[in-house]
Amino acid sequence: MNHQSDAVLTFKLYSCFQKIILVFLPGMLIVQTAIAQDNTAYHNGMVVCATPEASKVGLDILKKGGNAVDAAVTVQFALEVTHPEAGNIGGGGFMVYRANTGNTNTLDFREKAPARATTNMYLDSAGNVIPDMSISTHQASGVPGSVDGMVEAHNKYGSLKWASLVQPAIDLARNGFKISAKLASALNHNRGQFIKLNEGKNYLLKDGDWKEGDLLVQEDLAKTLELIRDNGRDGFYKGKVADELIAEMNKGNGLIAQTDLDNYHSVWRKALTGTYKGYKIIAMPPPSSGGIALLQLLHSVEPYSLKRMGHNADSTIRLMTEAERRVYADRSKYLGDPDFFKVPVDSLLNPAYIDSRMKSFSWSAATPSTSIEPGKFVGYESDQTTHYSIVDKQGNAVSITTTLNDSFGSKIFVSGAGFLLNNEMDDFSSKPGVPNMYGVTGGKANSIQPNKRMLSSMTPTIVEKNGKLFMVVGTPGGSTIITSVFQTILNVIEFNMDMQQAVSAKRIHHQWLPDDVETEREALDSTTINALQQKGYKVVSRGTIGRVDAILVTTDGYQGGADPRGDDTALGF
Ligand code: GLY
Repeated sequence: MNHQSDAVLTFKLYSCFQKIILVFLPGMLIVQTAIAQDNTAYHNGMVVCATPEASKVGLDILKKGGNAVDAAVTVQFALEVTHPEAGNIGGGGFMVYRANTGNTNTLDFREKAPARATTNMYLDSAGNVIPDMSISTHQASGVPGSVDGMVEAHNKYGSLKWASLVQPAIDLARNGFKISAKLASALNHNRGQFIKLNEGKNYLLKDGDWKEGDLLVQEDLAKTLELIRDNGRDGFYKGKVADELIAEMNKGNGLIAQTDLDNYHSVWRKALTGTYKGYKIIAMPPPSSGGIALLQLLHSVEPYSLKRMGHNADSTIRLMTEAERRVYADRSKYLGDPDFFKVPVDSLLNPAYIDSRMKSFSWSAATPSTSIEPGKFVGYESDQTTHYSIVDKQGNAVSITTTLNDSFGSKIFVSGAGFLLNNEMDDFSSKPGVPNMYGVTGGKANSIQPNKRMLSSMTPTIVEKNGKLFMVVGTPGGSTIITSVFQTILNVIEFNMDMQQAVSAKRIHHQWLPDDVETEREALDSTTINALQQKGYKVVSRGTIGRVDAILVTTDGYQGGADPRGDDTALGF
């Protein structure tokens, strides 16, 4: 293995290496996927993200001597151009950072409700939720945080000049890039909505269908990015781009005003930490539910020998499901923006509390979700996102998950500015107990209030082993984000998978309500499904779960895991 070799597309051709083994048994067909081993490891830096173009420009920054935060800024803007489903300047996200010294920090650049938002803004006069109002209207957008977040991260930790970090995205937007089959399909699929929700010419529409290899040029976006390159935060939150955003709002009773843009500021928050079998987990605190839920899940399963039970064995699925239903019940009641709601972080993470929650778990039968309620604390009142993982030569690590919420957000473009707006307001609870687009419910903790941040499931995470960097991990996937990160960590620590295997392995998900064990196709064989059904679990097959991009630090160097469910690409040098 040549650790000094030039950047190599670690897993773009993943599917070519896969061996599909078909096993015929009476009355059934089991499809097993032998996951190819690709243990290529690099010492000088690695970027894993949703598109090969963004991975490449991020890696170029590392090669020029930029650090992980420099590369993250470049990747964030390059994803806006090359991954319009979720890459964004019109959305928000979270960063978990670990310096090579071991110091940690997190940045909350989550969107906020506009000042004119109200608790019942999505309810009709009878008090019912108006379908789609929080999803595909101008009122669905929170105040974007991504540009402010990148400026803040760069001011604190960046080492190269800001302009040099934004320029690669400008070049990609102006010169265009050849789109993948998956992006062509996503653009064609959303064509009707783009036309319905927007007036006039639209940069993501063309005459006829998009095809793999078509060049996507985004001149309006290039000009917007130039303003951000030259003026930093003011290039987005003031002047031409801000005027265009507000003009867009005015077309559809949108609520974002210039004062919202002026007042938007991302927030540095102390990282949430916990342990799992001696590994230290560094995670995002609220307003993401991800960190708390991940730590609760890991603690819930820690007493058991998952290694002995086996990956995706029925006993493992039962254990994970029972932990997940209890954790998501807590999420529905206690998680929200800590600047507005007193989130009982210490109580939720108290080991004795988590152990008490698992006491009703029985190996003999499923616990129905109807019998599980959020925990009670004495004295207490009360698809589409994207992730990237980066490590530089010095061992500084960045784990960022960022989102427009739904695929292509609200599907509403800021006319003239060439970017999409988020529909993050749907992550609030529009009405207690009424599920949002991910089927999760909430109450007071996550009710809409002016200037409040909506609850998130985003779970950018860093894992340490023996005081040293071990893993950088995260994923998109709405409410399945938390359980996808949970399984990826277990795949490495418990099931001895390498990073790519851990990312590629099939996943399952349970979120309390609905009371279903959701499984990716071929995640479980029919014997396992039968065993689960006999114990009272409802197993529901669905499309893909998560799209994890992760880096593992091995004795050979950095090992990437790029999710084959997308165009995700790991590049190292
Ligand atoms: N919009 C998905 C999340 O933040 O959880």
